[in-house]
Amino acid sequence: MSTILAIETSCDETAVAVINNRTVCSSVVTSQIPIHKQYGGVVPEIASRQHLETINSAIALALEQAQRPITKIDAVAVTCAPGLVGALMVGICAAKTLAILHNLPLIGVHHLEGHIYANCLSEPSLEPPFLSLLVSGGHTSLIYVKDCGEYETLGQTHDDAAGEAFDKVARLLELGYPGGPEIDKLAQIGNPQAFKLPEGKISLANNKFHPYDSSFSGLKTAVLRLVQKVKQDNGVFPVADIAASFQETVAQSLTKRAIACAIDFGLDTIAVGGGVAANSGLRQHLQAAAKEHNLRVLFPPMKYCTDNAAMIGCAAAEHFNRGHTSPITLAGRSRLLLTEVMQLYQQ
Ligand code: KG4
Ligand code: ZN
Repeated sequence: MSTILAIETSCDETAVAVINNRTVCSSVVTSQIPIHKQYGGVVPEIASRQHLETINSAIALALEQAQRPITKIDAVAVTCAPGLVGALMVGICAAKTLAILHNLPLIGVHHLEGHIYANCLSEPSLEPPFLSLLVSGGHTSLIYVKDCGEYETLGQTHDDAAGEAFDKVARLLELGYPGGPEIDKLAQIGNPQAFKLPEGKISLANNKFHPYDSSFSGLKTAVLRLVQKVKQDNGVFPVADIAASFQETVAQSLTKRAIACAIDFGLDTIAVGGGVAANSGLRQHLQAAAKEHNLRVLFPPMKYCTDNAAMIGCAAAEHFNRGHTSPITLAGRSRLLLTEVMQLYQQ
């Protein structure tokens, strides 16, 4: 069993973890959210500088908390795509330096593969094939996980990602950043049936809809119109009811597509990943629907839904166990499809 030091700096968390196969020995996450909050979103240049300031102490702390000196580490893993290139570069430079200095193998990891394998932290026996519902700030996809490194995209969003929709609607409702947790909190006290909002559908030819694809931009516009209308009518802003109705619509839309996709492809497990996997409405709807259809649904532990390095270590362990390592020339890439992930490893 290998022990991996994993680094994640693709967006606004500087994260380092030590993982022994599927067991977390330590997980350090330094969030930059308080810094980016004042701008209403992540400022890439500030993110890179912050990573640079924090990365060395985060590595030292992760090793200390795991009680493992670097000499007891078998490989160094790092998120190398997709993400903000300047931010990725900080993690990649740190990982390469450790790999060269201590003569360790380097494992580049696709960020979304990390979100998929975060489910191993709640269900260590998880093995492909299964369906992954990826719902983060930048992605909303249904992925057929055939094996580690072998993926097929079955559905995706045609516009906003689910997390992005939460963030944009939160801004409309004058809530803080990131919007997902704020809407989730408010939705607890609101009425999810208060407003009927449209669930985005993707039109194909012949007036048919793509069954697994989603669209959230129409829903966001509907919330905007609703906010304008209620403000105009009586000035009172039923913010909790709007938040609850929005969350309900997103949760139902994702649940319907994930369940249909799992059934159609004969997959009995749905593993959810990404920041929106923390959403209470999605958790409730998906768990209830999965039970009804005799499917298994998995969510990562709450703290491993949003960005962290433990999930990167888990995905890296899968690759390392299969003999996959990356060249020292590994570069950061703002875009890389999950279906192209094997490009990260040497032949
Ligand atoms: O996976 P993640 O940390 O970063 C990306 O890879 O994008 O996801 C961040 C996204 C943000 O859009 C945030 O608003 C959303 O996840 N999020 C949530 C919740 N917690 C985080 N959305 C809905 N409900 C939550 N509880
Ligand atoms: Zn993420």
